[in-house]
Amino acid sequence: MIREQTEMDRSNEYLLQMDATSEKEFIDLKQFVLPLKVGVDLGTSNIVVTVLDQKNRPVAFEMEPANVVKDGIVVQFLDAVRILEKLKGRLEQRLNTKLEEAATAIPPGIMTGNTKVISNVVENAGFHVTHVIDEPEAAAVMMGIRDGIVVDIGGGTTGVSAVKDGQIMYSMDEPTGGTHMTLVISGAMELEFSEAEQYKKKPGQLSAGFYHDPACYGKNGAHYPFFYERTGGTHLFSRRNQLFEGN
Ligand SMILES: Nc1ncnc2c1ncn2[C@@H]1O[C@H](COP(=O)(O)OP(=O)(O)OP(=O)(O)O)[C@@H](O)[C@H]1O
Ligand SMILES: [Mg+2]
Repeated sequence: MIREQTEMDRSNEYLLQMDATSEKEFIDLKQFVLPLKVGVDLGTSNIVVTVLDQKNRPVAFEMEPANVVKDGIVVQFLDAVRILEKLKGRLEQRLNTKLEEAATAIPPGIMTGNTKVISNVVENAGFHVTHVIDEPEAAAVMMGIRDGIVVDIGGGTTGVSAVKDGQIMYSMDEPTGGTHMTLVISGAMELEFSEAEQYKKKPGQLSAGFYHDPACYGKNGAHYPFFYERTGGTHLFSRRNQLFEGN
């Protein structure tokens, strides 16, 4: 049976294409339509800089694990700037060009002052910030979702947004995510954090429900994982009514 390609397949393909760019030390820009577009994500687990061309084709990315942001708030300003400068420098070297402008994204529900701090980090690293957009909006556009729910499970936060006609109708962000899950595994199995992190990422270690993420609870009811409750899944999904009632 031929299965129709879904948005998820297309997104996965796109991510694989982006992933493949990391194999190239030097990237020839002749194959791309300029000017390049740059996006910065200051996450609680990773700082990522991605570069696309005018046709949104993946050109390159650089990322580094970092603990400079907590719950969407920059807590280590100088470290954040330093890491971002480093990533920018690496990309400029690989692309043999200066990257001057960047867009950045913010978690849903963040206060104006915190948004300013995020764009200040990006500016201090040497970019001129052209756009600041909501993370769920960026994810929905990337995945081509015009009507549906976007769940972004990060390291420290999980954002859930309802998208209608391409517009974000409602968003919420919960302070729970992959880091919390790793801590639960670490405690339950008496592993160091780094070992628990590896264990978590290894396919086939746990029930299907856990492996996908807490958000797939319901679909995998039979696999109800104890991790689900202990990582905040219960709290997050107790708010699902709010998500639907709000729209
Ligand atoms: N293959 C995998 N299986 C399970 N979890 C994974 C896998 N790869 C990464 N993760 C988890 O994803 C989390 C990092 O996700 P991501 O880079 O989206 O977070 P972030 O954007 O930095 O955080 P936030 O959105 O909360 O600010 C980490 O907890 C990491 O352990
Ligand atoms: Mg994130």
